[in-house]
Amino acid sequence: MALISPQKAIITSIIGALALALIITPACKKEVGENDFSNSTSTPNLSQNYSYGFGNDNLTILGRVLFYDKNLSLNNGISCGSCHKQEFGFGDNQQFSRGLMGKLSSRNTSALLSTSSFFGASVFFWDGRAADLESAAIMPVLNQDEMHAIDVQLLPEKLSKLDYYPQLFQAAFLTPEITVPRIRIALSAFMRAITSSNSRVVGLFVSGQLTYDELQGENIFQGKAKCYSCHKGQDFSTYDGSEFWNIGLEYDYVDKGRYLITGEEKTKGAFKLPHLRNVAQSAPYMHDGRFNTLREVIDHYDHGIINNPQLSYRLRDIPQSVISNLPVGVLPEDADFSMYPPQSLNLTEVEKRQLEAYLRAMSDPVLLNHPKYADPFRR
Ligand code: HEC
Ligand code: HEC
Repeated sequence: MALISPQKAIITSIIGALALALIITPACKKEVGENDFSNSTSTPNLSQNYSYGFGNDNLTILGRVLFYDKNLSLNNGISCGSCHKQEFGFGDNQQFSRGLMGKLSSRNTSALLSTSSFFGASVFFWDGRAADLESAAIMPVLNQDEMHAIDVQLLPEKLSKLDYYPQLFQAAFLTPEITVPRIRIALSAFMRAITSSNSRVVGLFVSGQLTYDELQGENIFQGKAKCYSCHKGQDFSTYDGSEFWNIGLEYDYVDKGRYLITGEEKTKGAFKLPHLRNVAQSAPYMHDGRFNTLREVIDHYDHGIINNPQLSYRLRDIPQSVISNLPVGVLPEDADFSMYPPQSLNLTEVEKRQLEAYLRAMSDPVLLNHPKYADPFRR
């Protein structure tokens, strides 16, 4: 506990509240589909003690149990891990995930990752709507409308009837009490422990053991294809997790993205900049899971960008001199560049292959496979 700053605690509480609200809902239909919706009656197998490298391991272990515990849902049929799956980089391999009452999520499940660019993040969800507690608490999380009918306060009592929890709460918090804030803090501790530091692509300018093609791909990522102008930092996201861009997927976006939160015209079709760790595993891609393969993504940036008034200036063909000669105080994102066409990268077949190879090298086998992140209820 001592390791959690008040600021982090607030953020973690927000996430926890959101996430909990999502899954606590009256639903009793058992789903068949890609997700495992079988009811859980087992107890977690915690015979192995894992270290998570930082923080309070007991808190993280409790969070892991909560993350995978279907008892957190009213019908005991769904857990966070039902959609955020380890083998897919804590995202899902479906365009939309089947949730409560068999309803599909309206967006692609985010691949959870705790890093500077995620838990340093000031915003969560594709539209960044989890920015303050006030709105978060009443928000129909992940577009599930059932949530606000539910009393989260009933959860501690329910969990206290499961014999494994008092002990786990005792270990994590030094007393066995189960409370909603504790549940949020523990869930967040587990999500914060989902870190990536074992991929061959260490960071933007630090690479280890890349093949020739991957190295060429790295040069393309940073150079000709200009990917790094947005996908930066350790995990190829923004440094503080608060950037939103319209990347020209549609002319008139069906899902208005960030605009739904800000109401500002220029944010129409803008979505949170995702990290690219384990991107090879987390297909399909984009907020609506529209692209099935990395090649489709690369082709989009190469020649598929649709011009629209909100398209990011970074994805337009604008002479550098124009950008450098902007009047003092005018940021490029605020200037009107709509007269410049979308970029054409003109990548060759070989370059596309190399860029894809580099993206694939960003995956972290430890994050994807290590039992310390796995479902402890699975036998
Ligand atoms: C039915 C599938 C489903 C379940 C169950 C689910 N999630 Fe999610 N999660 C999603 C989807 C879809 C999104 C993206 C939604 C959006 O942006 O509008 C998401 C986004 C998130 C995000 C934002 C990540 C980011 O980088 O912005 C967090 C954090 C999160 N979920 C945590 C949880 C936790 C914790 C639980 C369990 C208590 C949980 N989720 C259960 C589908 C699910
Ligand atoms: C203007 C900033 C910007 C640039 C430049 C950019 N991206 Fe993106 N990228 C984004 C945003 C924002 C999204 C999410 C968009 C959405 O879902 O509507 C995204 C999504 C992605 C995704 C899907 C990730 C997921 O989890 O679904 C991949 C892969 C990707 N970008 C790769 C690249 C590559 C490769 C390049 C260079 C060719 C590149 N990006 C250039 C902003 C950018």
